[in-house]
Amino acid sequence: MHGIIFVELKAFVEKSYDKQTWIDLLASVGKRPANYGAFRNYPDEEILALIGAAVQKTGLTQAQLLEGFGKHLGPVLAKSRIHLYLSGIHSCPIVHDDWKLLDLLENTQELIHTLVQQVVPECSPAKLQVSRTPHDATIVYDSPRKLCALARGIVLGMAEHYKCTVSITEPKCMLRGDHHCELSVRLNVRAPAPTS
Ligand code: HEM
Repeated sequence: MHGIIFVELKAFVEKSYDKQTWIDLLASVGKRPANYGAFRNYPDEEILALIGAAVQKTGLTQAQLLEGFGKHLGPVLAKSRIHLYLSGIHSCPIVHDDWKLLDLLENTQELIHTLVQQVVPECSPAKLQVSRTPHDATIVYDSPRKLCALARGIVLGMAEHYKCTVSITEPKCMLRGDHHCELSVRLNVRAPAPTS
C-alpha cells in the first residue's frame, strides 16, 4: 500500500485521539515508532494490521473506522497540489481546478489512480468504474482488500472539500457476498428559490 495512506492514517489517529494512541497501535502490531515515507510502498498486511488494531482500541466497527479515515483522506487527496505527495515533483497538478466533485469521481480511475500507479509501480489502487449523470455517479469498486467503507468515506470527505453534500447507498457489496461493490452517489441539489 502506498505510503501516503500510512502517513495519513497516522495524521488521522493523532488528530482524532493523540500521538500516544498511534505509538500504541504501532506497538500492538510489533512496530517501533518510525516515519512512513509518502513515496514508498509498504506491505498491505501492515496497513490492514494497523486498521485491525485501531478497531480493537477504539471499539468502532471496521466500517465506521474506515469511513472516518476516508473522510479525513478525501480532502487531502482532493487538494490540487496532491501531486506533491505522489511524486515529489511540482508540476502538472492532477486534480483540475475547474472540476467539481462528480468530475473528480469520473476521472479517478483513468487519470488519477493510473497516474498514482505509474509513480509508485508496486502499489495497486482500487479499480473503479464510474458512470455519471449531471447529479449522480455510480462507482463500481472491485478490490481484494474489500475497503468499500474507505471509498465511501473518501467520497464524503471530498464532498466536504467541494462544499456540497451527497447521499450514498451501496446496493451491492462484496462484504455481503456480491461479486463487487456498487456505490450510488447522489448530489443533494437544493431546489431553486421561488421567484416572487
Ligand atoms: C485525487 C483523487 C485520488 C487520489 C490522489 C487517490 C490516491 C490513492 C492512493 C495513493 C491509493 C493507495 C494505492 C495503493 O497503495 O495501492 C489509493 C487507494 C484507494 N483509493 Fe484512491 N485516490 C483518489 C480518489 C479516490 C476516490 C474518489 C475513491 C473512491 C471512490 C478512491 C478509493 C480508493 C480506495 C478504496 C483505495 C484503497 C485501495 C483498495 O481498496 O484496494 N480513491 N488512492
